Amino acid sequence: MNIKSPRIRIAPSLLSADFGRLKEEIARVEAGGADLLHLDVMDGHFVPNISFGFPVIEKIRGYSKLYFDTHVMITDPLKYAEAFIKAGSNNYTFHIEATNEPQRVIELVRKLGCDVGISLNPTTPANTLDPILSDIDLVLVMSVWPGFGGQKFIEDVLPKAEQIRSKLRQNQRLEMDGGIDSRTAVRAVRAGVDTLVAGSAIFNAPDSVAAMNEIRSAAQAHYRQGASR
Ligand code: DX5
Ligand code: ZN
Repeated sequence: MNIKSPRIRIAPSLLSADFGRLKEEIARVEAGGADLLHLDVMDGHFVPNISFGFPVIEKIRGYSKLYFDTHVMITDPLKYAEAFIKAGSNNYTFHIEATNEPQRVIELVRKLGCDVGISLNPTTPANTLDPILSDIDLVLVMSVWPGFGGQKFIEDVLPKAEQIRSKLRQNQRLEMDGGIDSRTAVRAVRAGVDTLVAGSAIFNAPDSVAAMNEIRSAAQAHYRQGASR
């Protein structure tokens, strides 16, 4: 299928950065052309891991101009939305599996002037989103089970991404998260993804900017190819 987004966006995930040197790690990818900064919040309940919360986001907001793409893997996205938005998130992406009232979360996030995204676990079907799809800015398709960086890309989610892309408007983003490197990025982009989240492939590489550029050029090359068909 043709890729509808005009260009690929790269969102380094801070989860794999050196937490003792966050300022330098962010400055490097920001200067190197990252489009967004992906912030993975884990509460130890929705996922079996704990990462960081809004005090960290508030601090790093002070030294980065990047768009903060906050992905909350927490059991109560309604309760904490305001804190994450006030801390400086530009986008609040929560899991559809975490709430029975996604519309309430969406309304609150909008009221607070923030973009809103919905994330789906690997086995959650695309049609779960049907009642709310027109009300959100982006869909985040998980290509690993959330909770940890460095897992293997789950290919089975690709048809779901294609299905979602076909239902989205031009200005709604489709993001993929988990196991993205320069090889899997091409698969994702072919399925209609326009925003690629990558943690370990960027921050565990000897040169994070070179790794980011490698992912971008692999994905973008496919985009040009797809667009010319
Ligand atoms: C996983 C997180 C991801 C994670 C991706 O729960 O949502 O954003 O950082 O890490 P990699 O790119 O290493 O799979
Ligand atoms: Zn994430």
